Amino acid sequence: MIKILDKIKSVNGILNLPGDKSLSHRAVMFSAMSKGESHIYNYLESADINSTINCFKQLGCEIEKSEKEIIVIGKGIKGFTKPSEDLDCGNSGTTARLISGVLAAQKFETRLVGDASLSKRPMTRVTEPLSEMGAKFETSENGTLPMTIIPSKEFHAIDYKLPVASAQVKSAVLLAGLHNENITTVIENEATRNHTENLLNLEVKEIEDGRIISVSSKNYPKPSIYNVPSDISSAAFFIVLALITKNSELRLNNVLLNETRNGIIRILIKMGADITIENESNENGELSGDIIVRSSKLKNVEIEKDIIANIIDEIPILSVAGIFAEGEFCVRNARELRVKESDRIRSMVNNYNLLGLDTIEYDDGFSVSGKVLNSGCTVECYHDHRIAMAFGILSTVIEQEIKIDGFECVDISNPKFLEQLGSIKN
Ligand code: S3P
Repeated sequence: MIKILDKIKSVNGILNLPGDKSLSHRAVMFSAMSKGESHIYNYLESADINSTINCFKQLGCEIEKSEKEIIVIGKGIKGFTKPSEDLDCGNSGTTARLISGVLAAQKFETRLVGDASLSKRPMTRVTEPLSEMGAKFETSENGTLPMTIIPSKEFHAIDYKLPVASAQVKSAVLLAGLHNENITTVIENEATRNHTENLLNLEVKEIEDGRIISVSSKNYPKPSIYNVPSDISSAAFFIVLALITKNSELRLNNVLLNETRNGIIRILIKMGADITIENESNENGELSGDIIVRSSKLKNVEIEKDIIANIIDEIPILSVAGIFAEGEFCVRNARELRVKESDRIRSMVNNYNLLGLDTIEYDDGFSVSGKVLNSGCTVECYHDHRIAMAFGILSTVIEQEIKIDGFECVDISNPKFLEQLGSIKN
């Protein structure tokens, strides 16, 4: 679908965005794993979360959705049943990687499939540690989906040092570790999102160069009530829009501000953004609060290596803020961008080049500067929701008309994006 978005001069008002994607995935998974009834409020209604829900339905769980909540009747530690068909993870890396940890410890074989984008993304990063724990895997030649998971009777605990800063890999090992009474540990040197640790109440020990996370069957989830704060990654698009348009002021209520996810706010403030936080609260270690953001004059700043994992999903829209800021926007040490829903370095650089901006592509990042020069061109979404929304926002604030090809992929994380945009536009 080719889309042309209406121009926006300024934004005002209040946004109550749907729940965070990472937390919604985990709330569904942990509810499905626990024995009995769980309730999930302010969940994210989106294609990715539906992929997780459908996989657990196929494993025998009852899951009911209403507008307000998801009710899950979970199966308990040995309660899942062998699905009659392949488990379809759609576009969702979080579904595929996290569920692999759960399935590696079951008594039956399963096969995971995904869409064209997910079927290109690396799975060896989870099959390596899970094989060490005893499971066997058959993947395509490139170590990608489709993937058959063959559990073993000898499934055991391991001590694993993460070779890549990935919360998905960390979580896969931790979820597998829940199925053994012996303690599994994961060591991470770079901080990645810690929702799995928070929701399962895992022991986390700080060490000189990172942390050690411990898990065993004692931490197996129990039925619970989850109140999911709004998604900071979705909020980032509207925050940047308010910053780069004149006479704008937005309030985004109850947004997730977990310290492993709020790097985007910290960087924008360093760039000169007028952002304040009110009504902070903390549930299960997940900090949230209302974000008030006003039009600001921005300057580009150095983006340090140790914040990259924290802002990995926000880099596309952060670079849009960078175009409106003094100086050049540059991000390095972010090779992981190449294995997201698209190769986000290539996707951003290709589209910026089409618009006439000055770019440099690095193996681990990119820089962009200059002004949009070209009108009437069509940018590509590369089936990547965050690329679609980043160029969606950019297209609304520049004089030139830009067409966006493949815009429907916003449904992966925020099907109501255009409705929300319409509600704050002056
Ligand atoms: C996620 C972790 C991140 C992130 C993804 C969601 C999660 O991926 O990019 O959108 O929910 O654990 P990696 O952990 O692979 O970096």
